[in-house]
Amino acid sequence: MPGKKAFLALLALSSVSLFLHHRGHFSWTMKVFHLDSLPTHPSPTQKPKHTSVAFLKTHKTASSTMQNLMFRFAERHNLTVALPYQMCGHQFCYPSSFNARFVHPHTLPPHIITSHMRFNLSELRRLMPNDTVYVTVLREPASMFESLFSYYNQDCQSFKRVPNGSLEAFLAHPTRYYRPEEKDSVYAHNTLTFDLGGDRDRPSSDVEYARHFIEEIEREFSLVMISEYFDESLVLLRHLLAWDLEDMLYVKLNMRASRTKLSSGLPAQVRAWNALDARLYDHFNASLWRQLATLGPGHVAREVGLLQAARERAVLGCFGGQFPRVRSGTLIKNKELRPWQPNSKVDIVGYELPLNASRPTAGAGGMSQDVCLKLIMPEVQYTRVLLRSQSLLYRKKYALRFTPPVRSPGPHLLSPPPSSRNSSSSPHSPPAPAVTLSPAVKDKPRPSPMQPS
Ligand SMILES: *[C@@H]1O[C@H](CO)[C@@H](O)[C@H](O)[C@H]1NC(C)=O
Ligand SMILES: *[C@@H]1O[C@H](CO)[C@@H](O)[C@H](O)[C@H]1NC(C)=O
Ligand SMILES: *[C@@H]1O[C@H](CO)[C@@H](O)[C@H](O)[C@H]1NC(C)=O
Ligand SMILES: *[C@@H]1O[C@H](CO)[C@@H](O)[C@H](O)[C@H]1NC(C)=O
Ligand SMILES: *[C@@H]1O[C@H](CO)[C@@H](O)[C@H](O)[C@H]1NC(C)=O
Ligand SMILES: *[C@@H]1O[C@H](CO)[C@@H](O)[C@H](O)[C@H]1NC(C)=O
Ligand SMILES: *[C@@H]1O[C@H](CO)[C@@H](O)[C@H](O)[C@H]1NC(C)=O
Repeated sequence: MPGKKAFLALLALSSVSLFLHHRGHFSWTMKVFHLDSLPTHPSPTQKPKHTSVAFLKTHKTASSTMQNLMFRFAERHNLTVALPYQMCGHQFCYPSSFNARFVHPHTLPPHIITSHMRFNLSELRRLMPNDTVYVTVLREPASMFESLFSYYNQDCQSFKRVPNGSLEAFLAHPTRYYRPEEKDSVYAHNTLTFDLGGDRDRPSSDVEYARHFIEEIEREFSLVMISEYFDESLVLLRHLLAWDLEDMLYVKLNMRASRTKLSSGLPAQVRAWNALDARLYDHFNASLWRQLATLGPGHVAREVGLLQAARERAVLGCFGGQFPRVRSGTLIKNKELRPWQPNSKVDIVGYELPLNASRPTAGAGGMSQDVCLKLIMPEVQYTRVLLRSQSLLYRKKYALRFTPPVRSPGPHLLSPPPSSRNSSSSPHSPPAPAVTLSPAVKDKPRPSPMQPS
């Protein structure tokens, strides 16, 4: 088949160029494999850790924070993470339905998959181990929709054609602006349902469809987390996977600088417009609380407390006794720590290292410098770093003709060489556009890094 040959040739070519481009960075990406652990808080159950996990990353639901946690878990346990083939971007060719062909061959066979995709169970089953646990996260529809509307206001035509970019105007007559046939319309109607593989344009009167769909999700997913109850959800996840407390550490990622408070009446309109998502959310919020009740409220509170204490210890240990500073993404000088900015009207904040800590302190709490940095590394950059390190391992394992370069002190993350670490080498993280922050935004109290997005 000529098409297949061309595809393979392209694959070989891009793999070689990826290798040539990035081999200088391999030595430091390897360091993460030498992580001592914090004082252990073993899994709440006696079982060995479960390591086959598919985390469906939904949009604007604290899922970047979860993805970062999964990436770090994988690195710490030498697990393979399925990553998108470059032509898919840093997502699995979203919004296309997931296909195993979207996975980069150097990341096969995987234990973990967590990048954005539109869920397709039969395709995932072809790829993932047969004991894979499926997990996802949902967010309350009104705050989620406000977030989508603001994040995608320049990318999604349905939002762009609304006069004055007004959420109120959109919700007053959604069908006036929404065009289901437009590719980017996925952000404008029942986005959770769509991400989960459902039909987002099913009329809300079709109660049977909604019921069936919810049943299906319940069958397929072992846990549906709720972003409003993120730490409680992590407690359930820890029980499900038998992970350690230190596997659950996180710093909140991919947040906006400011959020608009929805005026009264709007949440009901959002729910009416996104009726499928609202049903999903209500169902799985109720089921989350049933599971927490089974575990016992005292027990849950105790575990949440342990989790928060461990997180604070780790973060303070990493960043010289201070929390990393939340900053407007556009002002973050270190490219590796600058989050992707969707457009000039929304400011995604990230973290800058504390001023007097030119690099994170290794040792305190036992976390290595690289792991400390990865706690605050945005999705696009981390995906790239992981692809590089996994490609190296893949080549070693399959003894390809390349001699893996052994480099004494490799370029460090904090002092990127000016030539090779060029923003042009990362087509999926375009340089952030200039933003003039209004004083109101600048003066907003800084969100705590300890909350999920
Ligand atoms: C991961 O791999 C490294 C290097 O091969 C090894 O030293 C380490 O013990 C491994 N860790 C685990 C948890 O298997
Ligand atoms: C999911 O993948 C299967 C192939 O494994 C395909 O037949 C099906 O159409 C896909 N589902 C969607 C919704 O695209
Ligand atoms: C899962 O796969 C393993 C080997 O890959 C096999 O031994 C086992 O029987 C399979 N389990 C199920 C439930 O299919
Ligand atoms: C949009 O803004 C203009 C000027 O501020 C105002 O006159 C107009 O009524 C607004 N339109 C809507 C639909 O809110
Ligand atoms: C989630 O469910 C709990 C328990 O029923 C309820 O108290 C809470 O208000 C719900 N949260 C939201 C955001 O609907
Ligand atoms: C860094 O500066 C802060 C105050 O700006 C101070 O509290 C802290 O002790 C300093 N840390 C180090 C390691 O010097
Ligand atoms: C870096 O980017 C600049 C401008 O985009 C370009 O001129 C230059 O060739 C790039 N350097 C490398 C090494 O890619």
